Amino acid sequence: TGGVTTIDPGYKNTGSCESAITFLDGEKGILRYRGYSIEELAEKADFLEVAFLLIFGELPNKAQLDKFHDDIKKNSIVDEDVHKILDAFPKSAHPMGVLSSLTSALTAFNPSCVNVDSEEDMYQSVVRLLGKFPVLVAWTMRKKSGLPLDYGDKNLGYVENILKMMFKEPNEEYTQSKILVNALDKLLILHADHEQNCSTSTVRIVGSSHAGLFASISAGISALWGPLHGGANQAVLEMLEGIKADGGDTKKYMAKAKDKEDPFRLMGFGHRVYKNFDPRAKIIKVAADEVLGDLGVEDPILDIAKGLEKEALEDPYFVDRKLYPNVDFYSGIIYRGMGIPTDMFTVMFALGRLPGWIAQWREMRLKKEPIGRPRQLYVGETLRGFKPLEER
Ligand code: SDX
Repeated sequence: TGGVTTIDPGYKNTGSCESAITFLDGEKGILRYRGYSIEELAEKADFLEVAFLLIFGELPNKAQLDKFHDDIKKNSIVDEDVHKILDAFPKSAHPMGVLSSLTSALTAFNPSCVNVDSEEDMYQSVVRLLGKFPVLVAWTMRKKSGLPLDYGDKNLGYVENILKMMFKEPNEEYTQSKILVNALDKLLILHADHEQNCSTSTVRIVGSSHAGLFASISAGISALWGPLHGGANQAVLEMLEGIKADGGDTKKYMAKAKDKEDPFRLMGFGHRVYKNFDPRAKIIKVAADEVLGDLGVEDPILDIAKGLEKEALEDPYFVDRKLYPNVDFYSGIIYRGMGIPTDMFTVMFALGRLPGWIAQWREMRLKKEPIGRPRQLYVGETLRGFKPLEER
């Protein structure tokens, strides 16, 4: 057993690394990126500033931010052959599967980004990924609707251009409206990092073998896809739609969530670390009202969500298990109000989490962390002799 005496399923009580990037306090519901509170950053910063902060450790000054954005824009062109890969997917393909494939394929078109040891080489990988990823996200979404693909407008801001690439029609002011840009900025900031969650730990362990950045991020996208992790934001809307179709019968779904025989869980509830509330959920809940109000969107699903939260917070089963709305509970309602398709919600989570994944990968590589290789407790067969086929 190699000296291992106990195991820690799901690493609930295992620390995997030292990190200076994100601080969480699960009891107090505190979340900070490089020492700045998420509340301040969501209110006062924009997503590109927060990406710079997470990756390089300091808020950029104007010159640094402009150079960062210029370097990203210079590296946003995607090899034309990527269209052939995109064309090969059926329209029914889930965007998360398409995106993890296209992200991994970037390695093929950017071979210099595989063996990166110097900070300069890492920087080149980082700006290429931050440039190309939003393009892949927009193209993945538009390809499903048979809409034309392009690079938007390089004179726009980072988040503004993401919306421009995603929503070129039907009317220009739709994508230019400050409401949508501010809403997406805030949502991406709130998703940008979250210390050693499942997908970030995946990025770190794949990167620890010195596989390139694109391969490591592709693995992180796959981990995020799961409904217990980032895939929950899509599962929440599907659950709320189910409740609405059932005449708003939240009690039935609460009972299902408590029934041990029933695998159903209340999606968007619970968290490994937050045991009082998820500070991101609080901010997103307020933003949901604001954004839908500003857009003039009346969505009964928001009232069902609020009703479900209220009931769960009064139900001993959930209170005893410290189950509260997490980041995924309200985010999809805003995405939907913005016109983003449900199967793209987790892709939007990945778009937000990208700078966090990059920051964690870079910290792990710069600190020259060893390759990740946990041990086990062997509980299988003891030694036994081979039996020829005719004797079995
Ligand atoms: C994210 O780690 C991160 O930081 C993730 C994330 C990030 O930013 O990277 O915050 C993003 O992934 C948010 C979580 C999104 N997932 C969901 O909303 C899916 C539903 N939630 C659960 O599956 C669950 O709460 C987890 C996965 C989030 C956490 O699971 P844990 O910590 O392993 O807790 P557990 O499964 O051991 O549950 C403890 C108890 C169990 O009951 P008992 O066996 O003790 O009787 O609580 C119950 C569970 O059955 N429970 C739920 C529940 N979540 C936990 N019961 C009903 N509905 C739920 N949602």
